[in-house]
Amino acid sequence: LCRGLEVLYPEVGNISCMYVPDCSNYREKITHWPEPIVKFHGALEDAKYILIMVDPDAPSRSSPIARFWRHWLVTDIRGTDMKNGRIQGQELTPYQPPTPPAQTGFHRYQFFVYLQEGKTISLLPEENDSRGAWNMERFLNRFHFNEPEASTQFLTQNYEDSPAQSPGGGGNAPK
Ligand SMILES: *[C@@H]1O[C@H](CO)[C@@H](O)[C@H](O)[C@H]1NC(C)=O
Ligand SMILES: *[C@@H]1O[C@H](CO)[C@@H](O)[C@H](O)[C@H]1NC(C)=O
Repeated sequence: LCRGLEVLYPEVGNISCMYVPDCSNYREKITHWPEPIVKFHGALEDAKYILIMVDPDAPSRSSPIARFWRHWLVTDIRGTDMKNGRIQGQELTPYQPPTPPAQTGFHRYQFFVYLQEGKTISLLPEENDSRGAWNMERFLNRFHFNEPEASTQFLTQNYEDSPAQSPGGGGNAPK
């Protein structure tokens, strides 16, 4: 999944392919931080892209009945912006920070970039109604998206489950 995308948040910087560090309250802070910078260095300047951010582990990795949780969906991103990490375009689903529920272990937050070409992308009304249980595969098929141009993920868990915040133990081991 770690293919060509950099994801930068304040303070922690690039957390592409990493766990959000369990120190300095970063796992709590990321639940409030605004959207990250997402850079695709290999973007073609004249192309247009779409960006998807999802949580396949909603509400938990062991029972992901609300997979995929749609955190962010932006279309019509210019290649030059994609290269510089400025995610602006049509925001079909506004950014929602990761807020993994307590006691649900680590969640993966996955990012996918597709080449939009001349397509007009939209969500069906029933898809737009809810972020949860999004049938992402059906969406991708509808617009004939096959392989992403770039992708990555980071992992975090509820900050109260992190060992640093609960000296008595707690926190599930990474899988
Ligand atoms: C961001 O992190 C990923 C994964 O560790 C790495 O492949 C990439 O080179 C990093 N980018 C920069 C600019 O450090
Ligand atoms: C999608 O839902 C949001 C709020 O849930 C609403 O503001 C927006 O207009 C909807 N978009 C479409 C295309 O229906």
